[in-house]
Amino acid sequence: MTRPTAASTAASTAAAPHDDASGHAFGEPATQPPLARPAPTATPIHPLLAGRWSPRAFDRDRTINEAQMMRLLEAATWAPSCANGQPWRFVAGWRGDDAEAQARWQGVFDGLEPGNQRWCDAAAALVVMVASPRFANGKPNAWSWHDVGAAGMAMALQAHVDGLATHPMAGFVADRLRASFAIPAELQIVAVWAIGGPATPDGLPDDLRARETAPRIRRPVVELLLHSASARRASGPSA
Ligand SMILES: Cc1cc2nc3c(=O)[nH]c(=O)nc-3n(C[C@H](O)[C@H](O)[C@H](O)COP(=O)(O)O)c2cc1C
Repeated sequence: MTRPTAASTAASTAAAPHDDASGHAFGEPATQPPLARPAPTATPIHPLLAGRWSPRAFDRDRTINEAQMMRLLEAATWAPSCANGQPWRFVAGWRGDDAEAQARWQGVFDGLEPGNQRWCDAAAALVVMVASPRFANGKPNAWSWHDVGAAGMAMALQAHVDGLATHPMAGFVADRLRASFAIPAELQIVAVWAIGGPATPDGLPDDLRARETAPRIRRPVVELLLHSASARRASGPSA
């Protein structure tokens, strides 16, 4: 599989705090198609934001280690949260030579819907993002899912600059994950994220490869401005 490593290995390695389990340095986002699929934005945005996307093709040979995972979760925890309530909780598994981490990876994988298992078996890591719907003082936190989403995006952006791709998923069996990891009833499972080295889509089944190479689209911002006439037209009664 093609790896996302940049041409200037020596320079990037010098700047990297450490390498991952398979010898890849931090800080090498994929920059060239087909591994890169930058958003065709209407106005320029930072390459970090335009460059993040959710592939289904992952490099099966690429693993990550505990230090890398902790760095990703550290990034997640620096997301903003209502009253700094930090409602996020995680279950993280990763493939490699850590048997417990590998077992968690398998447990998360087994909790995914078959449609996602089709492609994310090559992901180096799987992270379950969980929300605590109450503040520490017991009062309901109506923003917990908002904040867990923000944590997911922070993790995704850190992963991107570390040369890792991410893909969030709602296609999981919550009861199975809850049972596998003894997730308490009062906590809510929000999403599972696949993380791994990007790969060319060549090895994917035809239908998934087509989705991988389809144009990236977004609704124009002007349609989303609720204070504009065009947004009122676009939103309509069915939106
Ligand atoms: C909460 C959430 C749930 C998602 N669930 C799935 C999923 O189960 N399977 C999947 O293939 N993609 C899933 N996605 C990925 C989205 O389809 C993807 O983010 C969207 O099409 C935009 O593409 P981009 O992330 O490449 O910009 C999910 C994304 C989010 C944020």
